[in-house]
Amino acid sequence: MSMPDCMNSNTLSNCILLRRRETRDAEALFAMFNQPRCQRAMVIEPFGSADEVQAWCDSRGPNTFDIVATIDDTPVGFAGLYSCPGSQNHSGWLSLFVHDAFHGRGIGTTMMRAIIAASELLAGLTRLQLIVFCDNGPAISLYRNFGFKFEGRHECFARRGDAFVPAFTMARLTATLPAKALDTEQMRETIRELLSHLEHRPQRRELISG
Ligand SMILES: CC(C)(COP(=O)(O)OP(=O)(O)OC[C@H]1O[C@@H](n2cnc3c(N)ncnc32)[C@H](O)[C@@H]1OP(=O)(O)O)[C@@H](O)C(=O)NCCC(=O)NCCS
Repeated sequence: MSMPDCMNSNTLSNCILLRRRETRDAEALFAMFNQPRCQRAMVIEPFGSADEVQAWCDSRGPNTFDIVATIDDTPVGFAGLYSCPGSQNHSGWLSLFVHDAFHGRGIGTTMMRAIIAASELLAGLTRLQLIVFCDNGPAISLYRNFGFKFEGRHECFARRGDAFVPAFTMARLTATLPAKALDTEQMRETIRELLSHLEHRPQRRELISG
């Protein structure tokens, strides 16, 4: 995927939009997950096809909020929030990927803002957690920017190529939020409201300061 003109400046201009992930995004997400840096960061086995990407997205359960960052409606970034059930329904898992050709342009930061807003303000989550390989400096730096702290180091956590590599678990706690999570229908409705809000405020600066 080539770099559009609007990406050739320090700001994202109007070319990045966030929206819910849809079934039609599977091909573009497959291409993105197959980028070398994205693939290197994946804790799960690489996807073999767009259908496998779709099946993985479908398998994440009903309390999922996943979004894409798009250029001309083509996804170049993916972020997923997965709320935990039962006694852990104050917690959620996070995953985040940006197409290799678009790193360092603020897309990860913008999606992180949206996911944290959704997790705290809409889903009522007070704990956001993730797994990141120990050698993934850019991702760890981004997570630390957002207040994630290391919780543990796990040796030989997953196979990457022909080696087993270690990973960190990291979490971000927001102690002052209400303990009650929204139910699934309330969450869907509030997510619709959030995305409608985001689609009308596409610029990075606005998203970050808004
Ligand atoms: C990690 C990732 C999501 C960051 O997205 P991005 O759009 O490139 O990030 P941004 O441009 O918003 O930069 C945000 C922060 O990330 C960190 N970062 C980004 N690129 C970096 C690099 N090359 N080296 C070090 N830190 C870097 C910095 O902390 C940066 O904040 P700063 O600009 O204030 O220093 C992206 O690099 C990516 O998708 N990598 C491959 C997949 C991956 O690692 N996913 C995470 C799995 S746990």
